[in-house]
Amino acid sequence: MCGIVGFVGKGDAKKFVIEALKKLEYRGYDSWGISFVEGNNLRVFKETGKISEIFPEKIQAKTRLAIGHTRWATHGGVTKLNAHPHTDCKQNIAVVHNGIINNFESLKTDLEKKGHKFISETDTEVIPHLVEENLNKNNSLLEAFQITLNKLQGDFAICLIVSKENKIYVAASGCPLAIGIGKDAKYISSDLLAFAGFTSEVVFVRDGTMAEVGENLKIYDIKTGNEKKVVFQKIPTQIHQAERGNFKHFLFKEINEQPKTLEKIVAMDQKEIETNAALIRNSFGTFFTACGTAYHAALSAEYLFARFAKMHVNTAIASEFPAFENFITDKTLLFAISQSGETADVIEAVKTARAKKAKVFSLLNNPDSTLGRLSDVVMITPAGREIAVLSTKAFTSQLGILYLLSCATAGGLDKAKKNLKDASKSVSEILKSSNIDQIKKLAQKLKNSKNLFTIGRGFNFPTALEAALKIKEVSYIHAEGFAGGELKHGTIALIEKDVPCIVFAANDETKDAILSNAQEIKARGGYIIGVSPKNHPVFDYWLKVADVSDLSPIVNIVPIQVLAYFLALEKGLDPDKPRNLAKSVTVK
Ligand code: F6R
Repeated sequence: MCGIVGFVGKGDAKKFVIEALKKLEYRGYDSWGISFVEGNNLRVFKETGKISEIFPEKIQAKTRLAIGHTRWATHGGVTKLNAHPHTDCKQNIAVVHNGIINNFESLKTDLEKKGHKFISETDTEVIPHLVEENLNKNNSLLEAFQITLNKLQGDFAICLIVSKENKIYVAASGCPLAIGIGKDAKYISSDLLAFAGFTSEVVFVRDGTMAEVGENLKIYDIKTGNEKKVVFQKIPTQIHQAERGNFKHFLFKEINEQPKTLEKIVAMDQKEIETNAALIRNSFGTFFTACGTAYHAALSAEYLFARFAKMHVNTAIASEFPAFENFITDKTLLFAISQSGETADVIEAVKTARAKKAKVFSLLNNPDSTLGRLSDVVMITPAGREIAVLSTKAFTSQLGILYLLSCATAGGLDKAKKNLKDASKSVSEILKSSNIDQIKKLAQKLKNSKNLFTIGRGFNFPTALEAALKIKEVSYIHAEGFAGGELKHGTIALIEKDVPCIVFAANDETKDAILSNAQEIKARGGYIIGVSPKNHPVFDYWLKVADVSDLSPIVNIVPIQVLAYFLALEKGLDPDKPRNLAKSVTVK
């Protein structure tokens, strides 16, 4: 989480850092701050809220050196004092940090005993104080930085500046960090997007290394202090900021892009799909792992592979993966699914699997990401950059590719492609303005609901989970998804008059059973919203979708994505940046 940025060189550092932070706001938007050197003085400016909501023009100084941070709070509430950068007692050292310092409490207690005064509740603040402490012992700044880093337990990407040096000191362990090499400047960021358009040459700050970034660039091993070879790499120059076009919000734009992204999947290289399907087919023990929405895609994979490949694949929420790591061997295939390719828990699972010599296959939406670099095989979902915090088009793309892979393992790719093409047309149909108006009306009706439930069976059980997640994360209505048969094992106690329940009634072998479950809810006063190709007397409200057989999960989720969007609008919420969330979850 959090985005960090730095600039050193010719040009207006402060301007670059603020513009870059705006691009990285999707990584966290609780608060932000920048630090730069003016004359010989270190200046720090921070604010709570979104960068776009205040006027950075207040910061007048022109400077050739600056660091900045956009925060997703981990330790300490959303306050100005907890915003980064953090400084030492004398305000000579400023630090921005992405990650978590697990042993910060004991480090803080020690430093307090030595007289250091802390003003925030964050873990990060120990870093400038530790550097200050080590500088007091006559170490050079580089030495003080190295000693400090060796005391930190946890994950970090760090940028540090001091009042009297024209360099930025950086380090990484478990969090991404890259240095862009320009003609007259160096750009630092946790995300390549920050300097896209400025340079295509980068140096990745590898785990366990630190760097001095000034006119020259030097990289060192954190443990030994030995200098390391600087490895320059080229990044694709087409990474660019997505535009909203005629849409008011990225979320609605991205929902509307789905027919096109699904068509792109139909057009994907046949050989790539068949080769990768064979890899899954021939592997011994396949684990799918992911978080959040991507985990729902992984769960769908379990159903898809059971049906079409007649294979049992295991799925694990990435943060729970450690419980199963004893089953990973050099014959295992770990299949990681991630939109961003930067999710900390997924990266951790992949690193564990690699250490056990398992093969790693990643399905990613970001073509240049940490997970991509750690994987043996990568498939890219052709959804294009997702900016809204809610994952929509990446999710349906993941489902589309998993469907093709599962069918290809049984030699059924051509037919599967045809079915996916039909599903893409059905998604277009749902997005027609008459249907959108109908969903808008439903949002008006549901906007004051306190609780909402979603149910589905078989292929549509993961759909129910995903639908509930979409609704709760953007509208803040408490929504829970269940396998249709499960609600009566406890949760049905919460059904009372007018509690809305979305029922995914696909025209498949689960139809009769799920409609019975809908009856059970209705009998207790529940308000039934049916997502189905056919209307049914049990439905109080019917959202019509086409009958696309095994692809119903792709088609069924779309009206609920739209519903979630309009629920947010009805409640006066920002659909692109829901509270407490961030697009990339880079902490465990
Ligand atoms: C929900 C959502 C999250 C992500 C999850 C994993 O709309 O976007 O649940 O799916 O944080 O992120 P990625 O796919 O980037 O690994």
